[in-house]
Amino acid sequence: EEYELGDYEHYMLKEIFEQPNALRNCLRGRAEQREGRIVLGGLADHARDLVKARRFILTGQGTAWHAALVGDYLMEDLAKVVTEATYASEFRYRNPIVEEGTVVVAISQSGETADTLAALREAKERGAMALGLINVVGSTIARETDAGIYLHAGPEIGVASTKAFTCQLAALTMLSVYVGRKKFMGQGQTQEVIDALCAVPDQLDVVLKTSEQVRDIAAKFVDRENWLFLGRGYHYPVALEGALKLKEISYIHAEGMPAAEIKHGPIALINDGMPVVFIATQGLQYDKVISNIEVVRARGGKIIAVATEGDTNIGRYSDDVIYIPHTIEPIQPLLSVVPLQLMAYHAAVLRGCNVDKPRNLAKSVTVE
Ligand code: G6P
Repeated sequence: EEYELGDYEHYMLKEIFEQPNALRNCLRGRAEQREGRIVLGGLADHARDLVKARRFILTGQGTAWHAALVGDYLMEDLAKVVTEATYASEFRYRNPIVEEGTVVVAISQSGETADTLAALREAKERGAMALGLINVVGSTIARETDAGIYLHAGPEIGVASTKAFTCQLAALTMLSVYVGRKKFMGQGQTQEVIDALCAVPDQLDVVLKTSEQVRDIAAKFVDRENWLFLGRGYHYPVALEGALKLKEISYIHAEGMPAAEIKHGPIALINDGMPVVFIATQGLQYDKVISNIEVVRARGGKIIAVATEGDTNIGRYSDDVIYIPHTIEPIQPLLSVVPLQLMAYHAAVLRGCNVDKPRNLAKSVTVE
């Protein structure tokens, strides 16, 4: 019955709202809060190789590649291991160096994306150990990996990936803690990350309550044909994902990039009334993000900020603010991406687009 729409108008909206439960299923039996440990049965036979690994290559396409980028930050920040996120389509043909101790992680909802499969095969041929973060059980990529973590997000029907993305982030967080804990990560930090991760499903129930507010914001800007999405650190990939969601289902042109990058060119695009979405949650780079906001505002951009609940400062710099609950930085993308999914959804509906089957797109791309 999971395939039925129920009270929802579109699969995409249903799947956005399924995220708290999808994540509960993804974390169940793996993020053990009481014991303060991560249990990944699918990796158990390879634990020693993972600890010895000298380099991780995270690869995928589309939304899965955005998850890989967040994973790059997570693996270096938490597991302290050299990591690279790369488009599967580019990895394959660039004559990549795969030294001993390289682990390739193929990230894919469907497990059938041709580019991702080809990159996986290439990496294996060059001697890498292969892991999969896959949603569809028994899919081609899942079968060709040495080990992995199934996402357990449930079937995803909407072409624009939503719940698979947040489950990919959860799986990457668990992988980072799993590897990190076996190396340098202390029990205190391990517990902190696990606690934050386990709080996400309930926090997402709160984030989903912003849906109507997000629709009202979308309605104000839906006639604008150019949007920017900006974030720093962990939120740079979230900015990319926000822009991709908007383009793929509403056909609005959007670009995502690191907030600091606009001054190197894209700032020339900003004109009066241009919607610019900032992920401006509290963290290491908050003050820097505020400076970036001021620069955009001074040139007429309209600021839509995703900020941390209780931030009494951000309202002074923004035209609209969507508040999300507080959490530690490595976990913030799990929350901050959801208002952007909702923004894309509402913008597309307001523009009369076919949300679940956008033009020119397929759910799974099985050609290179
Ligand atoms: C298609 C979909 C995207 C998805 C990408 C990768 O382009 O439209 O939403 O992110 O494929 O798919 P995968 O199944 O490998 O995650």
